[in-house]
Amino acid sequence: MAKRIALVSGGMGGIGTSICKALAAAGHTVVTTYSKPGKEQAWLADMKEAGYQAYAYQCDVTDTAACQAMVEKITQDLGPVDILVNNAGITRDATFKRLTKDDWSAVISTNLDSVFNMTKPVLDGMVDRGWGRVINISSINGQKGQFGQTNYSAAKAGMHGFTMALAQEVAKKGVTVNTISPGYIATDMVMAVPEDVRNKIIAQIPVGRLGKPEEIAGLVTYLSSDVSGFMTGANLAINGGQHTM
Ligand code: CAA
Repeated sequence: MAKRIALVSGGMGGIGTSICKALAAAGHTVVTTYSKPGKEQAWLADMKEAGYQAYAYQCDVTDTAACQAMVEKITQDLGPVDILVNNAGITRDATFKRLTKDDWSAVISTNLDSVFNMTKPVLDGMVDRGWGRVINISSINGQKGQFGQTNYSAAKAGMHGFTMALAQEVAKKGVTVNTISPGYIATDMVMAVPEDVRNKIIAQIPVGRLGKPEEIAGLVTYLSSDVSGFMTGANLAINGGQHTM
């Protein structure tokens, strides 16, 4: 398989770390963003110990100019980005009655504006080189909505709207754009849901458990490969059978 440079936003989180490991195991050079200093040394050491080639750049994915500058630096330091995984995301759960404009804006900018900010600086190069992969990590809650997540569900549904439109624009250029919609995965984000609420959620998953981050990463590896070239504009659900449509 061709070795490429893969940029993963938010690659130090639960799903993000698994995605980075899987892409590195597939032979790619992996670059992740991180928002706040603190975890990066341990994360880089862990990747190195596993024998993976990985790099980390601090970048606020809500900042358009910072993303542009980061991609220019990656291109100078390592080479052009051929695989982009838009994975960075946060929750600010509250019923709409209690949701503040700050909660709304934080989630829309981190989860959706970031998709523009990260894709914009890499896409022209992918088109010029005639090969590229953009993979958007959305959520089951963008497909079905979720009580307490008007902000998150809107952002995650928006990601797939972006996927469907951009996929059409670059389909003839060797660039694919796809969405993955994970269900409930055993990450810190899901573990932050109150335990009683979480237990009710697990009871609704036919497989009877939370998903594992590696189960998402495996699909990212496939979508990043040459053999996935005919799959574009898709929204792929990995949710333990918790289908909603
Ligand atoms: N459906 C219907 N009613 C619900 C409900 C649901 N899913 N959840 C709560 N309610 C009801 C409660 O029964 C309660 O009703 P009463 O007032 O009649 O008793 C009312 O709504 C208020 O519930 P809470 O006491 O829980 O209200 P709260 O303000 O303390 O918390 C909340 C609200 C923040 C939304 C909380 O319920 C919560 O955290 N829910 C989980 C939301 C969720 O699933 N988030 C996913 C995070 S993981 C993720 O996002 C990753 C991914 O992509 C899958």
